[in-house]
Amino acid sequence: MKTSTIALLLSLSSILFFPVSWATSNSVQDNFIKCLDKVSLSQPISAEIYTPNNSSFGTVLQSYKRNRRFDTPTTPKPAVIVTATHESHVQATVVCAKKVGIELRIRSGGHDYEGVSYVSQVPFVILEMSNLRSIEIDIKNETAWFQAGAILGEIYYEIAKKSKYHAFAAGVCPGLGAGGHISGGGYGNLLRKYGVATDHVVDAQIVDAKGRILDRKSMGEDLFWALRGGGASSFGVILSWKVKLVRVPATVTVFKVNRTLGQGATDIVAQWTQVVDKLPKEVFMRVWVKTVNGSHQGEKTIQALFVGMFLGGAQELVVLMNERLPKFGFQQSDAIEMSWIESVVFWADKPLGTPIEVLLERATKPAIFLKRKSDYVKEPISNAGLEAIWKTMIELEDVAMLWNPYGGVMNEISENKTAFPHRAGNIFKIQYATNWMVEGIEATNLYLNKTRKLFEAMTPYVSKNPREAFLNYRDLDIGTSSNGNYEEAKVYGIKYFKGNFDRLVRVKTNVDPDNFFRNEQSIPTLPSRKL
Ligand SMILES: Cc1cc2nc3c(=O)[nH]c(=O)nc-3n(C[C@H](O)[C@H](O)[C@H](O)COP(=O)(O)OP(=O)(O)OC[C@H]3O[C@@H](n4cnc5c(N)ncnc54)[C@H](O)[C@@H]3O)c2cc1C
Ligand SMILES: *[C@@H]1O[C@H](CO)[C@@H](O)[C@H](O)[C@H]1NC(C)=O
Ligand SMILES: *[C@@H]1O[C@H](CO)[C@@H](O)[C@H](O)[C@H]1NC(C)=O
Ligand SMILES: *[C@@H]1O[C@H](CO)[C@@H](O)[C@H](O)[C@H]1NC(C)=O
Ligand SMILES: *[C@@H]1O[C@H](CO)[C@@H](O)[C@H](O)[C@H]1NC(C)=O
Ligand SMILES: *[C@@H]1O[C@H](CO)[C@@H](O)[C@H](O)[C@H]1NC(C)=O
Ligand SMILES: *[C@@H]1O[C@H](CO)[C@@H](O)[C@H](O)[C@H]1NC(C)=O
Ligand SMILES: *[C@@H]1O[C@H](CO)[C@@H](O)[C@H](O)[C@H]1NC(C)=O
Repeated sequence: MKTSTIALLLSLSSILFFPVSWATSNSVQDNFIKCLDKVSLSQPISAEIYTPNNSSFGTVLQSYKRNRRFDTPTTPKPAVIVTATHESHVQATVVCAKKVGIELRIRSGGHDYEGVSYVSQVPFVILEMSNLRSIEIDIKNETAWFQAGAILGEIYYEIAKKSKYHAFAAGVCPGLGAGGHISGGGYGNLLRKYGVATDHVVDAQIVDAKGRILDRKSMGEDLFWALRGGGASSFGVILSWKVKLVRVPATVTVFKVNRTLGQGATDIVAQWTQVVDKLPKEVFMRVWVKTVNGSHQGEKTIQALFVGMFLGGAQELVVLMNERLPKFGFQQSDAIEMSWIESVVFWADKPLGTPIEVLLERATKPAIFLKRKSDYVKEPISNAGLEAIWKTMIELEDVAMLWNPYGGVMNEISENKTAFPHRAGNIFKIQYATNWMVEGIEATNLYLNKTRKLFEAMTPYVSKNPREAFLNYRDLDIGTSSNGNYEEAKVYGIKYFKGNFDRLVRVKTNVDPDNFFRNEQSIPTLPSRKL
C-alpha cells in the first residue's frame, strides 16, 4: 500500500505538541480552514475545501446524497466539506476538526439511509472520501485492495476485467461506497455461499483519532475486529480495505418471477419461509412483497417478486427448485444463464443486455425519498400469518418488504468472529422499503408512519430480546444517543451488535477515549473510562 506521509506527520506533530495560535479568527469554521492550510504542507489542500461561499458547494454536497428526505431546504448543511484527494487530507481533516472542536461526518458512497454521513444537528464538517477510489486486483493471490471511495460496481468491474472466475462477496447495489458498506457488514447475493463482505477483509488502513495512519498490524486485532461489522465511523476513517476474492463459476443462472395472490403467492411464500435457509449454499432467492393495484379500480393486492441466483447452470437449478420448492412452479424458461459480472448488472435491475460499463456510473443527486427498517426472522411464517401481514399491507398501501435469505455458511460462523453478529438461526432478514416521490413534511410523515405501522404489525413474526437490526439498514427509530451516553447507546447497540456490543465499547474507549468519532448511533465510550 502506498503511503508516504512522513512530512505531513512531522507537521502534524508540531501542531499537536506545539499548538500554533489561532489568535485572530473568530469562527470555528475559519479556525478549521486555517488549521488545514497549516497542517497540509505535503499536499496542497485549498482546492479541496468547500464552504457555502464556494459556488459549487451545493453540487458537491448533493452529489453523494442518496435520500431526498435529507435534501430539503431545512436539512442542516455542513460548515465545510473537504473533498480529500490524498491521504494526508484525511489526516489533516481529522486533526483539525478535533483541534477546533467541530463534529466530523465521513462520507464514502453516501448511501446511509438516515443521512448520518452528511447531516448533523450541530455544526459539522463533511470529509468526502469519494475521490479516493483506487482499485488494485491481484488475481494470482486472489486479493483486492481498494480505497474507501471506490464503489462496488467499479470493484466488480475491475475484477471481471481480470477473471471470469472471481468475485467479491458484497452488496447488490453497484453505487454503494466501500467505506461505509463493508464496515457495516455488507450483505449481497453471495451471502449463503460466502458470508458478508466484512468476512473477506484481510487488512485495512485507517486514520485514527490522533491523525495516524494504521494498518492491521499497527492497529491491533481488537480494532481490526471492530471495523468488521461494528461501523468504522465510531473508530476512525477507513482509507482502504484489502479483501480476499471468492470463486464463482463461469456461468451462473438468474431469475426474476412474479406471483400474485391469485397465482398462489401465499402458499409459495409460506413454503419459501420453510426451505429458503436450507437450500444448497449456491442458491440465493429473495422475495420482494409489495402492495400493487388489483384488477378492479381502487382495489389493492399483494405481489411477490422472486429474484434469485444459482452458482451453476439452468438445468440443475430447475431440478433443484422443483424438488425443494414445488409450489413455486419453476420453469426452464424462467432461468437465464450468464456470466457473474452480467448477473451484477441484472441484480442492479438493468434490462438484459445492458453493457457492464453501467456499473461505473455514479448518480449526481438523490432520486427518491425513502425510509428503511430491518428485522430478522427465525421461525417460518404460516399461511394464516402471511394473510394477516398481507391485510396490514393492503390497508397501509404503498409499502414493501424485501425478504433476504440467510442460512448456508452464515450458520457456520460464530457470532463474535467479527463485530457483525447476525449468524446462525436466521431464516431471513427483512428490509422494510418504503419509497415515495411526494415532497413536503406531510408526505414524509405519512410514509414514515406507514413504515412504522408495518414494523409494529410484524412483531409476532420477528426476533425478540433483542429485536435484532442490521447496521447497514440504518434506522434512527431504534434509538439514538447524545455525546456517547452508554445507557442510551445500549438500546440500539444490542440490536445491531448483540453480545458484541460491550467489546465494541471497550475498543472504542481504548482508541477514541474523547469520543471524537461520533454520530447519532455511534459506539459510546465506557462511562467510567475504566476497562
Ligand atoms: C440503493 C441502496 C442499496 C443498498 N443495498 C445494500 C445491499 O445490497 N447490501 C447491504 O448490505 N446494504 C445495502 N445498502 C445499505 C448500505 O450498505 C449502507 O447504507 C452503507 O453504509 C453505505 O455505505 P456508503 O459508503 O455508500 O455510505 P455513507 O453514507 O457514505 O456511509 C455510511 C456510514 O458509514 C460511515 N462511513 C462512510 N465512509 C467511511 C469511511 N471511509 N470510514 C469510516 N466510516 C465511514 C458514514 O459516516 C456512515 O456512518 C443499500 C443502500 C442503498 C441506498
Ligand atoms: C472556495 O473558496 C475559497 C475562498 O472563499 C477558496 O480559497 C477555495 O479555494 C475555494 N474552493 C474551491 C474548491 O474552489
Ligand atoms: C464567505 O463570504 C462572506 C461574505 O460574503 C465572508 O464574510 C466570509 O469570510 C467568507 N467565508 C469564507 C470561509 O471565505
Ligand atoms: C502473494 O502471495 C505470496 C504468498 O503468500 C506473497 O509472497 C506475495 O508477496 C503476494 N503478492 C502480493 C502482491 O501481495
Ligand atoms: C412484475 O409485475 C409488475 C407489475 O405489477 C411488473 O411491473 C413487473 O415488470 C413484473 N416483473 C416481472 C419480472 O415479471
Ligand atoms: C394505482 O391506482 C391508483 C388509483 O387507484 C392510481 O392513482 C395509481 O397511479 C395506480 N398505480 C399504478 C402503479 O398503476
Ligand atoms: C467468542 O465466543 C466463544 C463461544 O462462542 C467464546 O468461547 C469466546 O471466548 C468468545 N470470544 C470473545 C473474544 O469474546
Ligand atoms: C403520523 O403519526 C403521528 C403519531 O402517531 C401523528 O401524530 C401524525 O398525525 C401522523 N401523520 C400523518 C401524516 O399521518
